Amino acid sequence: MSKDFSGGHAPELIQYVLETFKPEDSVLVDIRKRTEAAGIPLIQVGAVDGLHLEVLTRMAKVEKAVEIGTLGGYSGVCIARGLPTHGKLFTFEINEDNAAVARESFKKAGVESKTEIFLGPALENLSKIEKHGLFDLVFIDADKANYPNYLKWAADHLKIGGVVIGDNTFAFGKIARTKHENTEESQSVRALRDFNFQLAQSGRFRATMLPTGEGLTVGVKVK
Ligand code: DHB
Ligand code: MG
Repeated sequence: MSKDFSGGHAPELIQYVLETFKPEDSVLVDIRKRTEAAGIPLIQVGAVDGLHLEVLTRMAKVEKAVEIGTLGGYSGVCIARGLPTHGKLFTFEINEDNAAVARESFKKAGVESKTEIFLGPALENLSKIEKHGLFDLVFIDADKANYPNYLKWAADHLKIGGVVIGDNTFAFGKIARTKHENTEESQSVRALRDFNFQLAQSGRFRATMLPTGEGLTVGVKVK
């Protein structure tokens, strides 16, 4: 479950941010409820991370966005809200039931015309949108083991100055445990560490970690 930026912060500070910035309106509450009712795991981004996505999308003046991992459409609505009227979000989802909930979410949020859902494994479907590139934003929030592969695609298909954002990059608290300390470390944790390393040190990005509860890595393509 995405925990937002709650990690380490006093409850009154969290309450203050929620009350002041009001990250979740009735449309997003409804998406959360319909996602839960459909039996989809409640692993969408937290409310404040959703707001981060909208603000970052606006900040980077994104017109063409890609999302890997649609789930019920929560983060997609946040990104789509940050796009101009003529903007477009291409979003990739492996699960048909999730995609059906997301389709409804986009309709209810009034962003249907700005969104297109691709059903199936993202690594098989990403080539279908390459003709629309280069892209301004790639948001990665799907199977963790493939984060490095998604990043490779992003590095090749983002414009210089384009932004890549990865969710859950603290690996649910395990990112700092080294191989030496944990020989049974899962493939996902190793992949997330590789993802962060590539963003931080490959020279193709200038990147930082927004220390939300889940960890949100944000990088700008420089090369
Ligand atoms: C999981 C995946 C996510 O993207 C997330 O934000 C939280 C949990 C998961 O697979 O458990
Ligand atoms: Mg996530």
